[in-house]
Amino acid sequence: MPSAEYQKVNAASSAGEHVSGDSAAGDALPPDANLAGGSWITRHFAFFKTKRGITITVAVILLIVGGGLAGLAALPKKGNKSAAGEGDGAGDLGDSITSDEHFYGQSPPVYPSPNMTGTGAWATSFKKARDMVGRMTLDEKVYLTTGTTSNTSCSGFIRPINRVGFPGMCLSDAGNGLRNTDFASSWPSGLHVGASWNKTLTRRRGNGMGSEFKKKGVNVLLGPVVGPVGRVVLSGRNWEGFSSDPYLSGALVYETVQAVQDVGVITSVKHYIANEQESNRMPANGMESVSSNIDDKTMHEFYLWPFQDSLRAGTGNIMCSYNRLNNSYGCANSKSLNGLLKAELGFEGFVVSDWSAQHAGVATALAGLDMTMPGGDDYWGSKLVEAVKNASVPESRVDDMATRIIASWYKLGQDKDFPTPGIGMASDLTKPHNVVDARNSTFRSILFDGAVEGHVLVKNTRNALPLSNPKMLSVFGYSAKNPDHNGPTIGSSAWVFGAESFNYDEFSNGFFGSAAVGNTPIAFNGTLYSGGGSGATSQSLAVSPFEAIVHRAYEDGTALFWDFHNGNPAVDPASDACLVIGNAYATEGADRPGARDDYTDGLIKHVADQCNNTIVVFHNAGIRLVDQFIDHPNVTALIFAHLPGEASGKALVSLIYGDSNPSGKLPYTVARNESDYAVLGPDLPDAGMFRKFPQSNFSEGVFLDYRHFDANNITPRYEFGFGLSYTSFSYGNLSIEKVADSNTDEYPTGEIREGGQIDLWDVLVRVKAEVTNTGDRDGAEIAQLYVGIPDDGAPVRQLRGFDKVFVGAKGKETVEFELTRKDLSVWDTVRQKWRLKKGGKYVVEVGGSSRDLPLKGTANL
Ligand code: BGC
Repeated sequence: MPSAEYQKVNAASSAGEHVSGDSAAGDALPPDANLAGGSWITRHFAFFKTKRGITITVAVILLIVGGGLAGLAALPKKGNKSAAGEGDGAGDLGDSITSDEHFYGQSPPVYPSPNMTGTGAWATSFKKARDMVGRMTLDEKVYLTTGTTSNTSCSGFIRPINRVGFPGMCLSDAGNGLRNTDFASSWPSGLHVGASWNKTLTRRRGNGMGSEFKKKGVNVLLGPVVGPVGRVVLSGRNWEGFSSDPYLSGALVYETVQAVQDVGVITSVKHYIANEQESNRMPANGMESVSSNIDDKTMHEFYLWPFQDSLRAGTGNIMCSYNRLNNSYGCANSKSLNGLLKAELGFEGFVVSDWSAQHAGVATALAGLDMTMPGGDDYWGSKLVEAVKNASVPESRVDDMATRIIASWYKLGQDKDFPTPGIGMASDLTKPHNVVDARNSTFRSILFDGAVEGHVLVKNTRNALPLSNPKMLSVFGYSAKNPDHNGPTIGSSAWVFGAESFNYDEFSNGFFGSAAVGNTPIAFNGTLYSGGGSGATSQSLAVSPFEAIVHRAYEDGTALFWDFHNGNPAVDPASDACLVIGNAYATEGADRPGARDDYTDGLIKHVADQCNNTIVVFHNAGIRLVDQFIDHPNVTALIFAHLPGEASGKALVSLIYGDSNPSGKLPYTVARNESDYAVLGPDLPDAGMFRKFPQSNFSEGVFLDYRHFDANNITPRYEFGFGLSYTSFSYGNLSIEKVADSNTDEYPTGEIREGGQIDLWDVLVRVKAEVTNTGDRDGAEIAQLYVGIPDDGAPVRQLRGFDKVFVGAKGKETVEFELTRKDLSVWDTVRQKWRLKKGGKYVVEVGGSSRDLPLKGTANL
């Protein structure tokens, strides 16, 4: 039965909130979604509201309808129809659920929303914020919470309130570099950074990226991404995040948040939470967004883990996601926002909605949302003012929203020494505009090192690499060259969304429409610097692999042949090596159609049949399977080149010629077969009772990626953590020491600060080992530590430490790992606390990958 809260909120709806039958809440709050408040496109991009925008949009639609995809007809396609696009959901619903009431209670209600307390590092900014907010009218406070349009290309904008000295705020994409502007760098993407396993480099990248955002007047960097974590192998956005392992993601998000915020830009860690697939991410065609259904233990031990690290790093902002969580929308979910984030983890910053992820007004305010984007009056704006006036939302809640926003602004020092919001974000780059060059020559080495270290060499036989003075090289494959176009066009364009090498019509179908699974697995028109969508980089300069190869060949006098288009190219048998450079495209808005593609595999096999030294390179925006060709005797080397950003070609050439030594390792598992994975593709809507409410049950718990392969004894093709170098390493001298006087009581007792109870981060065990470089080249090794927690049903091993060390030829270095209380605990669903396994024997393993762990010992607590 509707609760008192339900009645109160429902009453508010008559005061301006449109309540439709399309519901939004699974946590006993009311179904007050209004799905009729403007299309997602018009709400997302002001451009589409302009006349020109409409004309171009109509043209694009006509192109799609008129067979714009015909140009790709020769490419391999999966005959997959967009599930969300099939039917209009308005037919005979039979026994299917038609009301959200069915789901009430599945996500526990947690009210009221905790107020910001101003503890720890927030004390001063909290005081200042309270003072400024205290001087604002209700309308002004609501302005802060509700995005507005601007004459910039910022993804979102908060208007200035000059009366109190607040200049407004620009929020812009994204976690791989500043998108949709000129004179900004294309940084390596999240997955590439994950493959580097390099904390220091990650921090340097964060500093560089953050400085560029600041220089352009962007207050909030919409990233980094730790959701999706990578549950669904084919998810369109896995490449924006670091790894399919929450520990590795957590360690790198920690560095990124601190580095970006150190230079004065607020991070928006996203997408909170369980945003694991693109299919049905938005309500469309009579269906609600997909619901990620997760139990409490899995939530804590897996999906919440990296977000918790980002809070500990002090992120000022969290972005709530499009999906539903246990059948309550991510931005109206009181359990995840009020409960987990603001109460259990002590979050002091503000929560912003993903763009158009708000589907209710009062309910989202009470559930803990603090800012809505891109804004408008559909749910907040004047409606929020009205809801306060009729007592549906207490004014103290709006005060808290405003305080959290202004406190983050003060805490990052944006009240002083910050450029005018959006100063470098011209709304139309094709017209004369204010030029703000955000790049800096000191970033070049970070861009280069970052590009190098995210390449992972997984096969290298017959000394194929490094190349040694080749007399003739042959280069094949569409991902070797630059796309034919790089630069802004009028309005929305492929360049703005990282789709230059892909098919823009197909891209927009997924991104702006409601495609479920994409059709085309590769970007056929050129190389990939990033994936597509809002996490793309809009490079102002980029070196393709081919350009760098030509340059090098010219210097060396190497003969060079190439063919980027032919699937069955002719090969000169005098070639010393043949490079085949392909890709695996992925973009926001659609899941990938497959983890391999026959076109590229066919090309590789065709070349390998004629060239006995075939070196394969993939720019892969996700996991790419290789079993169709990897055992071909002439395939001598394989590099996963991921998404290196603008220094791509320079990095690849440096690696294949041996000027750099490969040091990346896989941040995911490469299986032999699709069926080896726990979850390969997205959950698509069924035709049965959940027809209007697509469901995704995370019933595998934490058994994803290597945890799943270990538990089921499945041999991967290349395991998590694996990667080769031109030298070799051995491990020895393991020492495991309990930290003297550390408190090993079963449960933590510390007070809550950002990130949770502070003693969760107490170091209880220290582990050391020696890594020896047994080869004759200098190199870097990523030493990894895995722990087997002595608990029924725990994974065999879980990553709990890593250390990337440079070791000179024949040299030796010590690696060190610190295991915290949290690293060694399991989530106790009864006590709602992390619990140490007292008296248990923890297995500690150290080595070079998740399946190569020569050092083994135990720790007893
Ligand atoms: C994406 C976000 C992005 C936002 C603003 C959304 O579609 O999911 O990641 O930051 O748009 O462009």
